[in-house]
Amino acid sequence: MFGRPSLFRTPNRFPHLGLVSKGARSVKVDYLHVVAGFGFPNPRDVPGPFPFDEIKMFFNSTRHLSRKAAVRSTVVNAVPAFLLRRLLNIGWKYEQGINLDFAERFKAVVGLPVIANGGFQQKDFIEGAIEAERCDMVSMARALIANPDLLDVFRAGFNTPANKCTHCNRCVGRTVTSPLGCYDPSRFPSVKAMQEQILEWNQPDPVESQE
Ligand SMILES: Cc1cc2nc3c(=O)[nH]c(=O)nc-3n(C[C@H](O)[C@H](O)[C@H](O)COP(=O)(O)O)c2cc1C
Ligand code: SF4
Repeated sequence: MFGRPSLFRTPNRFPHLGLVSKGARSVKVDYLHVVAGFGFPNPRDVPGPFPFDEIKMFFNSTRHLSRKAAVRSTVVNAVPAFLLRRLLNIGWKYEQGINLDFAERFKAVVGLPVIANGGFQQKDFIEGAIEAERCDMVSMARALIANPDLLDVFRAGFNTPANKCTHCNRCVGRTVTSPLGCYDPSRFPSVKAMQEQILEWNQPDPVESQE
């Protein structure tokens, strides 16, 4: 994991890529999946706004687990929400293919197939990145949560889905507290419709008869 400033502005970080190359070959790595940033969530992994309300929910629901958890929950409730929301959003914004520069660099120096990650949702953008040999593949998470049929949409000739992922990061902020699903009400006719989809996706497998 390298931050953009150190990788691109400090020449002495390049030998690290040489080491990655050697290491990868010695353990027979088939490909690299390039993600940047530190920790989860972070703005280079999930480009978009900081999911303040959802992270606050996470902090509050885990406050009993440790002293650190209790402190961060106390802080998040003590500081006015509008201020904290603004502060915590510093450095967070959506950018499609945010790690493509890194992927391109790894591909060129390490020579292994590279999967780029971060904010992809648009067919021509993805094809452009692969055709320009900036990466060999891309991976997607949020765009596929919003539209699980996205690849069919692309195959049908559309550049983007009709009801796009807004990259709001609400699903990311709920990773620990809530079932998997899209939590952006603006993508649904109603909050009820949103909740129904989440519940439908998270039905337990049918229990087999005990008889
Ligand atoms: C609901 C959700 C849960 C995720 N959980 C994790 C996780 O536990 N660990 C991790 O390293 N990345 C996690 N990710 C990050 C994804 O693997 C991916 O790197 C990130 O979402 C960027 O891709 P995207 O822009 O296509 O969503 C999660 C993403 C989502 C949307
Ligand atoms: S909550 Fe929905 S719209 Fe927001 S990032 Fe997740 S999948 Fe996309």
